[in-house]
Order: sequence, then structure tokens, then C-alpha cells
Amino acid sequence: MDSFDWNRLAVAGVFSVCVLAGAWGIGSVMIRDTTPFRPAFFIDGDQNEHIDLASGNVTKGKELAAQQCSLCHTFTKDGPQKIGPNLYDIMGSQIASVPGFYYSTSLKKHDIEYWNAQNLNLWLSRPMNFAPDTIMAYPGVPSTQDRINIIAYLKSISPSAPAIESKTTPTANKQSEPTKDKNPQVVQGKEDFQRNCAVCHTDTQNGNARLGPNLYNIINKPIASQSNYTYSGVLKNKKTNWTESDLDQLIENPQKWAPGSKMIYKGVSSAEVRKNIISYLRSLSPQGNH
Ligand code: HEC
Ligand code: HEC
Repeated sequence: MDSFDWNRLAVAGVFSVCVLAGAWGIGSVMIRDTTPFRPAFFIDGDQNEHIDLASGNVTKGKELAAQQCSLCHTFTKDGPQKIGPNLYDIMGSQIASVPGFYYSTSLKKHDIEYWNAQNLNLWLSRPMNFAPDTIMAYPGVPSTQDRINIIAYLKSISPSAPAIESKTTPTANKQSEPTKDKNPQVVQGKEDFQRNCAVCHTDTQNGNARLGPNLYNIINKPIASQSNYTYSGVLKNKKTNWTESDLDQLIENPQKWAPGSKMIYKGVSSAEVRKNIISYLRSLSPQGNH
């Protein structure tokens, strides 16, 4: 297939550049330029949905994987690595941890997490959104049902999956601290946060970075100031503290308020929902209240 030949070429090219120049930076730029049909850079709303594998068809998923993934991946126990790592028992295993495979630093950054239905869905829908400098030169699987089928197949070849998945699926509430506030706007805001933001952000004190930085105590904090997170230049150049009005503008349309930001997200159009989310963030911001 045409696009795969391109991918192969691109990957080969990038690897040699990396070897010669030792520069992952150059590699990622090349991957970006050569990845076919990379459309506008937005995650659909439905990617925030909880993925229900019950509707997944393992047989169809296996076929799709054979067509779309087997150029680069094997799926059998102890299968060799190709351009990508072997994917047997991938679900429930630590991200970017197949021994002997050289991952991009971008995917390696996720190695504190485990693969579950939720993050596989995000990864497979657009690998570059999940790990911006990934070396998986693959544009993603556009259809949600195809992704569900593929994930159901991956789960069927992952004996480690069931136990760990139930622990790590970010169905939010489990991972957050109990909301101390009984204010209904805050309670609603917490739900809205889980639905819209939690796929990329944690909200607990010292929570991990996901695709985006941790958001505990964000109000009044200097913008782009967390040392364990690499921000885009546009955010770093803001050089002010987070106000509720800035947050409102960011959440409404990240790319309008901060063009070129790494927050690739279509935004929350409802002023009401934004208000709730900001109330919730304020409840997590002791500094903001004083
Ligand atoms: C053009 C080659 C290519 C294609 C096609 C491809 N992948 Fe990958 N895949 C890679 C590479 C390379 C990596 C390592 C990525 C990195 O380090 O950034 C990877 C990584 C992964 C990982 C993470 C593995 C780990 O150890 O954490 C998963 C899961 C994955 N691919 C699934 C898929 C699925 C499912 C498909 C098909 C829908 C697919 N890939 C298609 C090359 C490919
Ligand atoms: C698809 C992933 C994604 C989603 C969904 C998302 N964000 Fe983000 N967010 C990011 C990324 C990535 C960054 C880093 C942006 C940069 O460096 O340009 C970020 C940055 C931020 C920051 C700046 C933090 C700081 O330390 O200065 C705030 C605040 C924020 N997001 C709030 C939200 C809220 C609230 C929501 C839900 C309405 C949300 N985000 C949804 C990915 C996301």
C-alpha cells in the first residue's frame, strides 16, 4: 500500500538521520513532514468517552490489525520486533517497556502508565497527539468502532490485561480526592472535568502529568511553571499567573488563546460548563481562594 511504503521510507530515513546526527529532534520533524494525510489537529469529543469493549468484535479487530499494523508489529507470544515492538500481552503492560525496543522519548515519558482501553483508544486515534515525537509513523485509526475492535483483539491476546485494567482505567472518581466542597457548581464541575479534561490531566496533589500537566492548585500559579512538564513555547511566553478569565479563554478554544499550544483539544463551547470546571479548579486551588 502506498502510504505504508511512505511510512517505511520515512522510518528508515529517520533512523539513519538519528544515527548520523544523534538528534531525535530532527527525526521528529521529518516524521511530521512525511506522515501522510495528517488532518487538522483536533481530538473529537467522542475520544473522551469511556470505551466499552463489550461492543468490540475480536475477529474484526484481528483482521484490522493484520491489515493495518502487521507491517510493523507481531502479535504472537515472543514474536520478533519489526519496525515496532511485539504486541503480545500489551494491554495491562507498562507503556514503552518491551525489552530491547528503542522507543521515542516521547512515548517513554508515558512509561509510568499502563496500557488500558482508554489510553489505547487515545493512542490509536492519533499517535502524535498522545506522544508528539513518536516514531510510530502511522496516522491513526479514524473510526471509533474500528479502534474498539482492535483494542478488543489486543485484549484477547493479553493475559495480563483484566486485573490491571480495572485498576488503571481512569474512570476518574476513583483517582481523584473526594471533593470536599458540597457546592453544586463544584460537584458538577468535577464531573465536567472528568468528562472533558481528565483524559489528559490529573487533578490530585502531586498527580502525574498525562498528555498535559497536573492541574492541582492551578489558579494564581504562574502559567507553564511545572518543572516536571515540557510546555510549548507559546505557553511559556505568557509569563503571567493563571486567572479565571485566562482559564476560561484557554478552555473555550486552546488554539485561539495560545496558537500552537500542545493542548490539542477542540475546547468547551458551553460557558456554563466552563464556569463549572473553573469552580472545580478553584476548589483545588487553596492559593486561589486567599
Ligand atoms: C509504520 C509502522 C507502524 C504501524 C503501521 C503501526 N505501528 Fe504501532 N508502533 C510503531 C513504532 C515504531 C512504535 C514505537 C513508538 C515510539 O517509540 O514512539 C509503535 C508502538 C506501538 C504501541 C506501544 C507499544 C508499547 O510497547 O508501549 C502500540 C500499542 C502500537 N504501536 C499499536 C499499533 C496498532 C494497534 C497498529 C495498527 C492499528 C499500529 N501500532 C500500527 C510502528 C507502527
Ligand atoms: C487532549 C488532551 C487535553 C485535553 C482534553 C485537555 N488538555 Fe489542557 N493541556 C494539554 C496539554 C498537552 C497542555 C500543555 C500545553 C502547552 O504546553 O502548550 C495543557 C495545558 C493546560 C493548562 C496549563 C497548565 C499550566 O501548568 O500552565 C491548563 C490550565 C489546562 N490545560 C486546562 C485544561 C482543562 C480545564 C481541560 C478540560 C476542559 C483541558 N485542559 C483539556 C492537553 C489537554
